[in-house]
Amino acid sequence: MPAHILDHFPSDSQRLDSFREALLAWYDNHKRKLPWRSKPSLYKTVVSEFMLQQTRVATVLPYFERWMNLFPDFSILADASEEQVLKAWEGLGYYSRARNLHKLARQVDSWDTIPADSKSWQALPGIGPYVAAAVTSISFGQAEAVCDGNVVRVLTRLFANDELFKDGATAQKKLRPLASQLLDGSRPGDYNQAMMELGATVCHRQSPLCLNCPVIDHCKGGKTGDTERYPNLAKKKNSKQKIRRYWIRSRDGLLLCSAAKGSARLAGIYELPENLPVHLKKLAHEAKHLATRKRTIGQVDYDEEIFKTEILESTKNTLPDGYRWVLWTELDALTLSGPHRKWIKELSDET
Ligand code: ADE
Repeated sequence: MPAHILDHFPSDSQRLDSFREALLAWYDNHKRKLPWRSKPSLYKTVVSEFMLQQTRVATVLPYFERWMNLFPDFSILADASEEQVLKAWEGLGYYSRARNLHKLARQVDSWDTIPADSKSWQALPGIGPYVAAAVTSISFGQAEAVCDGNVVRVLTRLFANDELFKDGATAQKKLRPLASQLLDGSRPGDYNQAMMELGATVCHRQSPLCLNCPVIDHCKGGKTGDTERYPNLAKKKNSKQKIRRYWIRSRDGLLLCSAAKGSARLAGIYELPENLPVHLKKLAHEAKHLATRKRTIGQVDYDEEIFKTEILESTKNTLPDGYRWVLWTELDALTLSGPHRKWIKELSDET
């Protein structure tokens, strides 16, 4: 055991046991009623953990319910088309998660026996140490500790660890051994969920509810009252980027574009185009500024300027792959990126 764990939880004392007991008793009494926790199954656990990466519980809930109705098990998901899968994910963002979950379902569906160990799960598409630990501990009772952003917050506060981490991913990696040392091997799935639940509902980033904390007696940061300085993550300044997009209408609808199949980001998901097909390039000069929209993706702040014009002549020229004219009546059925659906709705009300 690393020395600082021994300082905090001496091996000859009951402190580590009492920490685990207090945490699990709190979880048993206070855990949120979440749809993947009632009648849990491997499938529900996998889907919820994919959705919960980078996304909050409140956002995930309606998607999870709809997903379970559309694709109730691995086999039905495996048989679905990529289009159906992306449509059901529309608005959740980070679409590679949906594609990987779809591929994973096809793989699981082809297996005769399902492996229970974390190493086998990490070999599957889209599964890193976090999802592998979550799935194998919750579904198979494996003693694998999760270390996500919530757990990093709880651990650095418990130990008043003010080490400067380059970013959240580095902190998760570095603190994983500590998370493993504290794990309760008799109830690993509940212990992991309890740590994440504590981070999400009590040990908030700002103004944590230390008075309600079941493990305050074990928390060095909480006792000194300066919890908010943990974790100590390097402040990163986002870079800025300007993007020019086009709002071009014809009698056949609005021009939209999706990235080519196989490209990493947004393949099969429609947005307002950044580049115009060759035969429409002349329209770029006459287009007038319509609106500017801002969004942040990862570490980049985008200013997306949208320029508008109309096309009056025939649109019968064939469009290159990925482009299409879309009538308002067709919009709902098409998969759009979340922000673009919102912008198109707002701007169509104005134009
Ligand atoms: N965040 C991600 N997975 C979770 C889980 N199973 N319980 C609580 N919070 C979570």
